[in-house]
Amino acid sequence: MARPYVLINVAATADGKIDTVERRGAAISSEGDRARVDQLRAAADAVMVGGRTLHAEDPRLTVRSDVLRAERRAQGRPEQPAKVGITSRFQLPPESRFLTAGGGRVIVLVPSGSVDGSPSGVEVYECGQGRVDLVHAMALLTDLGIERVLVEGGGTLNFELLRLGLVDELQLYLAPLVFGGASAPTLADGAGLARDAAILLHAPEVKIGQDGGVLLTYMVKRRVLSPG
Ligand SMILES: NC(=O)c1ccc[n+]([C@@H]2O[C@H](COP(=O)([O-])OP(=O)(O)OC[C@H]3O[C@@H](n4cnc5c(N)ncnc54)[C@H](OP(=O)(O)O)[C@@H]3O)[C@@H](O)[C@H]2O)c1
Repeated sequence: MARPYVLINVAATADGKIDTVERRGAAISSEGDRARVDQLRAAADAVMVGGRTLHAEDPRLTVRSDVLRAERRAQGRPEQPAKVGITSRFQLPPESRFLTAGGGRVIVLVPSGSVDGSPSGVEVYECGQGRVDLVHAMALLTDLGIERVLVEGGGTLNFELLRLGLVDELQLYLAPLVFGGASAPTLADGAGLARDAAILLHAPEVKIGQDGGVLLTYMVKRRVLSPG
């Protein structure tokens, strides 16, 4: 099944946490790293988040830089990438940042029968029974003209996409911080994998930033997995 190129970007602490145990969306990136993420968004056709990040943080997911937005316009692309939410219960109010910031396309993917009508201006697609079928969701995004997806978490969605072999690239910014906490989220949570089913990464690149952070870029090895 055709699918877009999928890049997961994560900001984590040196102990691998993507938030504190309080799960309130703690700041991890530096200003310089946020500029890098802005470039990733500007290069993407869509930016995707999972339901808990969507509802708890109501993220804007927009390209902030005027220059990058102008470059997109000059390329004949929409000023902002589409936003994609993966959830079984879309509950953001019409004035939410996710729905209003940037004025770009908003796509919400839900399981069959889980949403009563769509909020105005939102494209809601039913995809899967009980849970969003992520394989079909990616194929649907291809049908909608989306060729490059930036996934911005959280750990549950990241894990599912990795487990299903739907990820091409991983960019991991490691901040010079330690949060600790056994229940603090990490870049890939969910049920976890046995050692022989581990996701294999290759072609690592390392950049050390002036902010003391480290940017790790990996390609994800392709593998065929049975669903479920
Ligand atoms: N540092 C970073 O880079 C970064 C980035 C993003 C998020 N975060 C942190 O990550 C934490 C949230 O992560 P999380 O793991 O709790 O949640 P998450 O991955 O954001 O969202 C999981 C939710 O996605 C929805 N979903 C629907 N179908 C799914 C499917 N097939 N597979 C996976 N998810 C599906 C469900 O939403 P419903 O429950 O709505 O049905 C599920 O509960 C927060 O603390 C946030 O701050 C950190």
